Amino acid sequence: MGHAKHFVRLFGVLAVVVITFLAVRAQAVPKDYGTLGRFRASAITDAKKREPRHIGSEACSDCHDKINKSWAAGKHHTPQCENCHGPGMLHVKVMSEDSVDAYPDQIKKNPKALRVTSGIQECEWCHFKTFERPSVLKSISNVKEHITKTGGTYTAKSKCTDCHDPHTTVTKK
Ligand code: HEC
Ligand code: HEC
Ligand code: HEC
Ligand code: HEC
Repeated sequence: MGHAKHFVRLFGVLAVVVITFLAVRAQAVPKDYGTLGRFRASAITDAKKREPRHIGSEACSDCHDKINKSWAAGKHHTPQCENCHGPGMLHVKVMSEDSVDAYPDQIKKNPKALRVTSGIQECEWCHFKTFERPSVLKSISNVKEHITKTGGTYTAKSKCTDCHDPHTTVTKK
């Protein structure tokens, strides 16, 4: 019957493992976990406390009315201002402060107020051919080919905005 000892030890170890697990779990699981489903219910209030970063294209028209109007009337009104320029809340805050004279300096002091636009990357996100992209969204698969085909000269510095107005897509003369 000497073998029974092995089982006692084994169950002893198992009991320690289970108790440790339950103790750690009781400490680690937030109190409101599960009250609204399988997540921490107070995550919602935490998220609500965060300041919004995006404000929508409408908000840009206060100061960029001309661009907003040509964008809204043109063929490129599906992508929103902030799709290309990044979240605009900080930009608007910076721009709304002090006098208009201070604006350009404030942009330089606060480069993160808007994402820097390259005139290529913003277009790649939507217009580079990938196999899953629907054909309704006109795409190009090769920048050099596209530029050469449309009568341009490709260099390392070529940008989509050399020819296309980003706000209307109209080709510049
Ligand atoms: C309170 C006024 C105001 C609002 C609102 C505003 N802007 Fe501006 N923005 C300015 C001013 C002033 C400049 C400085 C350049 C100029 O005179 O056009 C500027 C410059 C810019 C530039 C050029 C930045 C650069 O590096 O040259 C972009 C792009 C821009 N704004 C996008 C936006 C977008 C997108 C929105 C909406 C999310 C927006 N702006 C909302 C006032 C504003
Ligand atoms: C498809 C991407 C895209 C969208 C959408 C877009 N922009 Fe732009 N925007 C650009 C790019 C790229 C440039 C830089 C232009 C260049 O290099 O010639 C630019 C330049 C600007 C500038 C500074 C230069 C200028 O033309 O005065 C402002 C201001 C601006 N955008 C505001 C806006 C606003 C407001 C909206 C929404 C109504 C908007 N943009 C929507 C890509 C976009
Ligand atoms: C967020 C997605 C998105 C981005 C970014 C974007 N586009 Fe577009 N583009 C579209 C959609 C969607 C259309 C189809 C027209 C529409 O519904 O607005 C379009 C249409 C076009 C067209 C064809 C217009 C026609 O004649 O039918 C051209 C050219 C174009 N975009 C160029 C650009 C360039 C250049 C850039 C970068 C500055 C750019 N796009 C960035 C979504 C995007
Ligand atoms: C040398 C000038 C030039 C450059 C640079 C250029 N394009 Fe174009 N693109 C054109 C011309 C011209 C057309 C055809 C006329 C039109 O529809 O506006 C065109 C058409 C398009 C179309 C519509 C294609 C279709 O099937 O109808 C898309 C999308 C497009 N360009 C995206 C881009 C993107 C993205 C870039 C940057 C990688 C770019 N273009 C750079 C001149 C240019």
